Amino acid sequence: MVDWSPETYGPRWKNVYDEVGWPRPDAAVEFLSARRGSGRCLELGIGTGRVAIPLVARGVPLDGLDASPEIVEVMRTKPGGEAIEVTIGDMADFKLERKYSLILLLLNSLYALQTQEDQIRCFESVAAHLEPGGLFVVETFMPDPTRFRFGGRAHVYEVGLDHVRIEADTFDRATQQILENHIEVREDGIKLYPAFLRYTWPSEMDLMARIAGLRLRERWGDWANVPFDASSENHIAVYEKPA
Ligand SMILES: C[S@@+](CC[C@H](N)C(=O)[O-])C[C@H]1O[C@@H](n2cnc3c(N)ncnc32)[C@H](O)[C@@H]1O
Repeated sequence: MVDWSPETYGPRWKNVYDEVGWPRPDAAVEFLSARRGSGRCLELGIGTGRVAIPLVARGVPLDGLDASPEIVEVMRTKPGGEAIEVTIGDMADFKLERKYSLILLLLNSLYALQTQEDQIRCFESVAAHLEPGGLFVVETFMPDPTRFRFGGRAHVYEVGLDHVRIEADTFDRATQQILENHIEVREDGIKLYPAFLRYTWPSEMDLMARIAGLRLRERWGDWANVPFDASSENHIAVYEKPA
């Protein structure tokens, strides 16, 4: 087991999260708005509000949940981010007063849960908070174990005159865990940005959904409704709670 807790990510990433070149949220916002249903939306692992803020601006009533008050504070500094109601808690096991017609778990955040057991508990908590007919949208990268040789890898991804950025990973195919640390080296010091994760294949995710009483409604390779196939690097699954 690794030394990682639900609160670890936020304080380590809060100052640089919005500088990472994440994809623009426009296509995701379009996709999600079309599936909003008639009730409220909940984003698990809402982070700095990358998708949540534009969704609210589109008129989607939305609440958030995150383990890290520090990263939510970043969202609070943004226009529209200060008004979003956020519960601090663990997405593996949460109890909220409201029910939702749409629950979101975006940008690989399911993988932040380090064990299969926690990931199943997350699906069960989601199912308990969905209205009948409500949808759960999960976005994850497609695992590619061929990236790793001899149980790990190091990859230099940015070299400048006064800095170098390196990603160092270990990979355990028995537990499906990737322990990843982004290393920034400068003359005045080194900074570490860890992201420990447990990946799941779409088939395993479908079984977790089934255990929780949800069923697969749609599967896509991209927010722009690109069909999911063997070449997909991204994976978007839409699960439904039977009406
Ligand atoms: C990769 S960020 C994604 C943020 C946002 N959803 C986005 O799309 O930009 C993952 C987020 O999940 C949160 N998180 C990690 N583990 C969590 C847990 N067990 N329960 C709740 N939130 C968690 C982190 O604090 C962080 O804000």
